[in-house]
Amino acid sequence: MKNKFVVGNFALKVRKSFAGKGLFTLGFIPKGSCILEYTGKMVEEKDHYKDTKYLFWTDKKTMIDGNVPSNIARFINHSCRPNCEADGPKGRVYIISTKVIKPSEELTYDYGREYFNKHIKPKGCRCIKCKSKLS
Ligand SMILES: C[S@@+](CC[C@H](N)C(=O)[O-])C[C@H]1O[C@@H](n2cnc3c(N)ncnc32)[C@H](O)[C@@H]1O
Ligand SMILES: [Zn+2]
Repeated sequence: MKNKFVVGNFALKVRKSFAGKGLFTLGFIPKGSCILEYTGKMVEEKDHYKDTKYLFWTDKKTMIDGNVPSNIARFINHSCRPNCEADGPKGRVYIISTKVIKPSEELTYDYGREYFNKHIKPKGCRCIKCKSKLS
């Protein structure tokens, strides 16, 4: 199947979502599962790296440029009512389920206030929670 990936124990699929592409699960994901890692090139603030939507800050000075083809975690969208969180030991970011996620559901996590204010808020958040507030 096109855009289908098996990562560890989970079959995932990249497809169109509420904000461009998104990452979906094809099977059940138990709560507390480490689903995949957000990978890419480690870069430092002092390198004056161009700010793109795929930069993930790991601390005040260091970030991961996730804009690499192997990093399918880059397609996970932000939600104000997420089903995952991004966490990990220093310099690494893992996507972990915070709920049971059912087949065909989209994976989401909260991007955090800084990213939200810079990249999401200006155009409006399109997550399920914010959309339901509008209707
Ligand atoms: C890491 S990318 C996620 C994948 C992206 N949808 C794509 O197709 O490449 C983050 C970008 O997706 C969009 N995005 C993610 N979550 C969103 C949301 N809840 N509301 C609006 N745009 C969102 C924004 O353009 C954001 O800068
Ligand atoms: Zn929202």
